[in-house]
Amino acid sequence: MNVVQDFLKKKVSGEKIAIVTCYDYTSARIVNKSELDAILVGDSAAMVMHGFETTVSATVEMMTFHVSAVRRGAVDKFIIADMPFLMHRKGVELAMNAVDSLVRAGAQAVKIEGARGNQDLIHYIVESGVPVMGHLGLTPQSVHQLGGYRVQGRGKDAGEQLRKDALDLQNSGAFSLVLELVPAALARRITRDLTIPTIGIGAGSDTSGQVLVFQDLLGMNPDFKPKFLRTYLDGYHQILTALNNFSADVKNGRFPSKEESF
Ligand code: KIV
Repeated sequence: MNVVQDFLKKKVSGEKIAIVTCYDYTSARIVNKSELDAILVGDSAAMVMHGFETTVSATVEMMTFHVSAVRRGAVDKFIIADMPFLMHRKGVELAMNAVDSLVRAGAQAVKIEGARGNQDLIHYIVESGVPVMGHLGLTPQSVHQLGGYRVQGRGKDAGEQLRKDALDLQNSGAFSLVLELVPAALARRITRDLTIPTIGIGAGSDTSGQVLVFQDLLGMNPDFKPKFLRTYLDGYHQILTALNNFSADVKNGRFPSKEESF
């Protein structure tokens, strides 16, 4: 089934959509066997895989590299790739070159942050045959303008602007929309007003689906505890314990055993 059609069907039936980010081959092999509906190769790769402070450091080369690794591991999953910082603001040719690289690397759709000033380009990308996912609310590429990672759309005017942006993105041809750090009531209203599905992260439970960062949901960073995050594994401590068990076994002469030797 065409995943874009499937997303729209799920919106109509009320079946929730679950998405996770992924950036590497080994993790992608696991996600490929999961029941998750799609993979987002997010520009959060710049932070969680490369240790940069913001997603502004992601480049087309970086994203292409991660998309191709994820595609090799997750052969069956629908992959959405983030358009990196400013690549959709430098003119149609550069934007289309970026889309070209991401799709040739294995993405089936691209995600673009923001609505205002992006509508013609989104329409053009969609008309060119590449599905586009929108992203509103906290748009991390604008962190320097937004002044930090905080909830967006609070208050009547800001909420109304966000709702209008969402409708504009739908009219431009976006097939779905990420809502990040948005009050739950606003996300509910936007979801109700759109025909395309909304995918929330810190936007309450009434969006059409949810997305989380792979490393966050697996508890890989015990210092990252935003209110919206639920962890499904204590990955940091479990991996640390495994590494220390290996170290101790080596140092005590318990590894390798006779059975593990030739
Ligand atoms: O880059 C990313 O991981 C994202 C999600 C947080 C939606 O855009």
